[in-house]
Amino acid sequence: MTEEKTLVLAYSGGLDTTWAIAWLTHDRGYRVVALNIDLGRSREQPVIESRAMAAGAVAVRIVDARDEFLRYFAFPALAAGAVYQDAYPLATALARPLMAKLLVDAAHEVGAVAVAHGCTGKGNDQVRFDVAIKTLDPSLTIIAPTRELAMPREAQIEYLRAHGVDIPWGEKGPFSIDENLWGRSAEAGVLEDPWQEPPPEAYEWTRDPSQAPPEPRYLEIRFERGIPVALDGRVLPPVELVETLNTLGGEYGVGRIDHIEDRLVGIKSRELYEAPAAVILHTAHRALESMTLSKQQLKLKRYIAQEYAELIYNGLWFTAHHQDIAAYVASTQRYVTGTVRVKLDRGQAIVVGRQADRSLYDRSLATYDRGDRFDQSAAVGFITIWGLQARVQARAQLLGDIPEPLKIAKPEES
Ligand code: ARG
Repeated sequence: MTEEKTLVLAYSGGLDTTWAIAWLTHDRGYRVVALNIDLGRSREQPVIESRAMAAGAVAVRIVDARDEFLRYFAFPALAAGAVYQDAYPLATALARPLMAKLLVDAAHEVGAVAVAHGCTGKGNDQVRFDVAIKTLDPSLTIIAPTRELAMPREAQIEYLRAHGVDIPWGEKGPFSIDENLWGRSAEAGVLEDPWQEPPPEAYEWTRDPSQAPPEPRYLEIRFERGIPVALDGRVLPPVELVETLNTLGGEYGVGRIDHIEDRLVGIKSRELYEAPAAVILHTAHRALESMTLSKQQLKLKRYIAQEYAELIYNGLWFTAHHQDIAAYVASTQRYVTGTVRVKLDRGQAIVVGRQADRSLYDRSLATYDRGDRFDQSAAVGFITIWGLQARVQARAQLLGDIPEPLKIAKPEES
């Protein structure tokens, strides 16, 4: 190990990646550059720099990627309606391709030959990192120390001590946590029993809905081309808008998700999410689409949304398939501009009003009151033709065969 090779490690500040700095330095002979990527809400932020240096990093870089994360990852997923298995708004899954990109960029800047991340060998995140990194630069070596060694916590602490790093790690938290602006996830510990209700301490961002303020809180969210731009009439940059909704939603207990999830690696796992802003925004966005997209657009888009959610979940962000889907989604959002009124009320985000600049909702067609412009007499002809095949088929094939109790009323002979 004479020639000094440089490596960039995605550094969270937690024990796993702090140990990884020491191990990559001493056992693997790398000069480790620790890259901390701030995507919002990280617990370890204040101690990042000192910990990384103590563990032996040659340099520490801290990147604030919160705005990029929302603008180019979370918001496009929102516009698409991408929610994995109808439950998970994809906070962690959306963060990984951005982190991979920033790792690769940093590697190029410092002339690194390798990158590293703290993922285990059982989760989705290793797949997302590895696939994205290898797509962006196949020449980089990828090292995942935790996956390679699966060293118990005590042994990691011991290893650090043996190399002169004495950090008070405190008690091991009861859960495995990952969080960013788009949501918080908790897994492991008592959550591994899918029959057990999550204990109160599993939640950190949201109040128990039964403890929410008694009076509901109304919000007006403005979207432009499917992207949220203003709250209660105030234009807000993405980070501020999402932070505000996380805080408000959290107070009202909105955004708790208890989900049995299918991981890409085949494992079913119990995941607990808190995603107040994501849940409020998805709910509001869907309501605006119901005003601005046709029935056919809504139908296909629902299907595309699932495909999009899966490709994000499965680590295929940097693909042509994604580009194609993103182009379709962007096209659907041309007129998704307007405002949605949402009521936060003890755990729920309920849409109570919506208006769109180019709405397809036409009151003069829908109304039962005066001013009705819908020609009711035209309905009769429409129904005759609409029901034609059903009538023909019933007479030719069905009427004789249907067992008596289920028999459909025989149409009038004409
Ligand atoms: N199951 C989620 C996903 O695969 C979240 C995983 C986050 N990791 C954690 N330690 N909680 O995207």
